[in-house]
Amino acid sequence: MPSSQLGLDRDIAVQLLQAAILAPSSHNTQPWKFRLHDGGIELWADRTRALPVNDPDDRELTISCSCALFNLRVAAAHAEVPVHISLLPDPHNNDLLANVEMAASSTVSPDLAELQEAMGHRRTYRKAFAERVVPTRLTEALVHAAAQEHAWLQPISGATARHAVAALVAEGDAAQWANPSWRRELAMWMHPKRRGDGMTVPGLAVPVAQAVVRTFDMGHGVGAKDQQLADASPLLAVLGTDADGPEHWLLAGQALQRVLLVAYGLGLQASYLNQPVQVPGLRPKLQDLMGRTGFPQVLLRLGYPADTLPASPRRALGDTLDLT
Ligand SMILES: Cc1cc2nc3c(=O)[nH]c(=O)nc-3n(C[C@H](O)[C@H](O)[C@H](O)COP(=O)(O)O)c2cc1C
Repeated sequence: MPSSQLGLDRDIAVQLLQAAILAPSSHNTQPWKFRLHDGGIELWADRTRALPVNDPDDRELTISCSCALFNLRVAAAHAEVPVHISLLPDPHNNDLLANVEMAASSTVSPDLAELQEAMGHRRTYRKAFAERVVPTRLTEALVHAAAQEHAWLQPISGATARHAVAALVAEGDAAQWANPSWRRELAMWMHPKRRGDGMTVPGLAVPVAQAVVRTFDMGHGVGAKDQQLADASPLLAVLGTDADGPEHWLLAGQALQRVLLVAYGLGLQASYLNQPVQVPGLRPKLQDLMGRTGFPQVLLRLGYPADTLPASPRRALGDTLDLT
């Protein structure tokens, strides 16, 4: 029987989607939309949630959606539902990123199923990490996790390369904060928690925080802090792909989420220092420093968290469903 005729139980579909929306996304835009159909679930890019200044090609938008796709795969494996994923299944419509169907024959992967718990505990950890070395075998496990998703994780090792990458982060901060359009876009995504998306700011402080971000170039201060975080991070690593286009961004997001969930299982959390990937002139410089060929997609710092963070807000599942 073709997989599309197998159908996916609606309760199971909801369970998978509840997991999908826990994924990270740039500026917490949650730029995904799901459509349930007889055979399964379609994942769509919601480009009304794009960040045209920060992410003009929707590269990070696509990566964010594929983090949600990876969560969906984990939840399916945990529910013992074998699924078949087709990426970009409609050559005429790039907004349809993936189709998830019940598979007739494939079995579920226990490696995926065991990541279930991590989905609810992974956080973007922007604070300083505990001063504790990440053992080589853990780094190797993360490198392996990225490779399983046909992407790669390249640790930046050696003080010289690290300092140079940290300096690029500060340069990226300076370039972004000097751009009023970039600051305006960031301010637009600063929301009170009840909104369910964006970068959370306490309700009463929202207008002031937005005005400050819109008005002042804080690139110097932010850059100095980020440079210090990069320099001091127990593990600094580039996640990347061999080529650069929507199909590779879909691999990058699944690899990113796999790395983040495996990291949680090993006691680690991560945050992003993506400025050298986002600022066009800096990406080739990061390419030169990373010690391998290919395209950097995300720059991560990883380490042992010194603190437990609350979950960031998410929109209600109903808001992410396309019922048309
Ligand atoms: C593709 C991508 C790019 C991101 N870029 C940044 C970034 O440059 N700086 C940052 O602080 N967080 C970045 N984030 C993290 C998001 O802000 C974070 O996922 C979101 O606020 C939700 O919080 P959570 O990850 O704790 O659930 C990025 C996340 C993704 C998936």
